Amino acid sequence: MVELRTPGEIDAMRAAGEVVARVLAATRSAAAPGVRLRDLDEVARQVLADALADSPFLNYQPHRSMPPYPGVICTSVNDVALHGIPTGRRLADGDLLSIDAGATLDGWVGDAAISLTVGAGRPEDEALVATTQRALTAGIAAAVPGGRLGDVSAAIAAVGRAAGVGIDTTHGGHGVGRRMHEEPSVPNEGRPGRGLRLRPGLVIAIEPWFMAGGDDTSWTDDDGWSIRTADGNRAAHVEHTVAVTDDGPQVLTVLSRAATSPSPGRS
Ligand code: MF3
Ligand code: CO
Repeated sequence: MVELRTPGEIDAMRAAGEVVARVLAATRSAAAPGVRLRDLDEVARQVLADALADSPFLNYQPHRSMPPYPGVICTSVNDVALHGIPTGRRLADGDLLSIDAGATLDGWVGDAAISLTVGAGRPEDEALVATTQRALTAGIAAAVPGGRLGDVSAAIAAVGRAAGVGIDTTHGGHGVGRRMHEEPSVPNEGRPGRGLRLRPGLVIAIEPWFMAGGDDTSWTDDDGWSIRTADGNRAAHVEHTVAVTDDGPQVLTVLSRAATSPSPGRS
């Protein structure tokens, strides 16, 4: 069942989303050559603790065949596209890193991800990240009342196809609410004008991820979680939690204005 949220509930979800934005800002600043993925997880745990928020990732077990997820963030490096576990691996100059984070605050969940290059990034990786970000922007722009879910999926894929990247539709976005993964699922490819009608109050995580090269397949690592490209090519992944509202799409996983603008008397 697809649940719709009231404006008050969307405000509560924005508070959870802001915690996610803080986690991503802190882990982005901490990501540097020599830093362990596990250190980034520690940074994220501290931000969640300071915000009195829980992690919807920690111990998550979508299927009995999978081990409970051991971290509060996913750290996916190079050919790991999604769900990379924060291990003792140290970041190296030129790595392509995706950080995916969630927060549960007052029972509401936020979910978002960024991709970045570590140290001196390769130009082709920067381009892949930029393409993925453009796809996210296009998907968000399509999340308007009266549209269809297929419009969001098609907008994402159009950007990816134009750039010639690989798209794997076995993992994509999802509804978000009191749980991290709710209906509907939001594939990264689809047909415009098809699928669920978008109504005010629908809250979805939109998460394009693209692979360099055209290979459309990926596989899951022995650790039970890491999703790697089949051919070793690099992948990028970005995500926001977005509410469909009468005023258009609202991104919930951003820092609040109070947190981003200079405080009175200090500028
Ligand atoms: N944004 C990711 C997703 O929706 C978050 C996965 S969290 C994990 O798939 F716990 F499953 F790793
Ligand atoms: Co997600």
